[in-house]
Amino acid sequence: MRSEIIKILLENKDEFVSGEHISERLGISRSAVSKHIKNIKNQGYDIESITKKGHKIFGCPDLLSGGIIKHDLNTDFIGKEVIHFDTIGSTNDYAKEIAGDSIDGTIVVSEEQTKGRGRRGKEWHSIKGDGIWLSIILKPDIYPHKAPFITQIAGASIVKSLRNLGIDASIKWPNDIIVNNKKVSGILTELGAEIDQINYIVLGIGMNVKTMNFPEEINSIATSIFKEGYDVKRIDILKNILEEFEKLYLDYTERNDKSSCIKICKESSAILGKKIYIINGDKKRKVKCIDINEEGNLVIINEDNDIEELISGEVSI
Ligand code: BTN
Repeated sequence: MRSEIIKILLENKDEFVSGEHISERLGISRSAVSKHIKNIKNQGYDIESITKKGHKIFGCPDLLSGGIIKHDLNTDFIGKEVIHFDTIGSTNDYAKEIAGDSIDGTIVVSEEQTKGRGRRGKEWHSIKGDGIWLSIILKPDIYPHKAPFITQIAGASIVKSLRNLGIDASIKWPNDIIVNNKKVSGILTELGAEIDQINYIVLGIGMNVKTMNFPEEINSIATSIFKEGYDVKRIDILKNILEEFEKLYLDYTERNDKSSCIKICKESSAILGKKIYIINGDKKRKVKCIDINEEGNLVIINEDNDIEELISGEVSI
């Protein structure tokens, strides 16, 4: 309910909105409206309330709460339902728990994660207010073998959003987002499926936005948007990602069209045309990356000068 009230105030941010108007729109009593407004102010929202005039919003705290995300969000279904936590273990874990009963496109976002998870069982540092710790619940009508490409769509939409906001970001195939040669964002896609049917996909996105200090072991490879000299709000990045993601996702799931996604992956690639390392456990081989083909697979020339196509893997520059 609070997020609905914030949404109404933001829609009318140049004027006072009466308690009566809010109570009629939301079907709750005037005293319930007053109580919610009091709580919203306690969360740090700058709202002026004047008797007989109503409530006017002047400022929002730097929170990724439902009302702020939904306000002016230009999507059809992604982010129509927002679940926002101050703190949680992992947004992906929570999203998986509720996926069965959630509507397609529901997002789970938290200011902090205490058990954030990265790929290959690694920990993902998710300090309070420093980044975007987001999971999107998806229920596409596609076969399970087609699900991995959704990670690539996420990578393309993240890089496109950062570029829209003036940030010089690139993709290290298949799905790390890089700024100035260091990682700012990663994706953890998890699938709940039967042999021939997807029940849900939980698409987890982590982005370091304001982080200044990283643990010793990742300090040389991790960075944040702010640390690289870009002062961009978390909310603007998050909304941009949701909007760009939805477009590419619908191209793929409704029209089987990967072309826009691949175009972005190629144009914003951090490795195309370069010598890279393919990492397999503790083995490393030096190869040249020559293409990302229309399937989204990486095409390389290997040590024996043969052409190889990689469907997945870990690469380093
Ligand atoms: C990686 O690059 O290793 C993937 C990192 C994914 C981190 C995000 S943060 C939100 C979501 N919840 C998690 O526990 N992990 C993902």
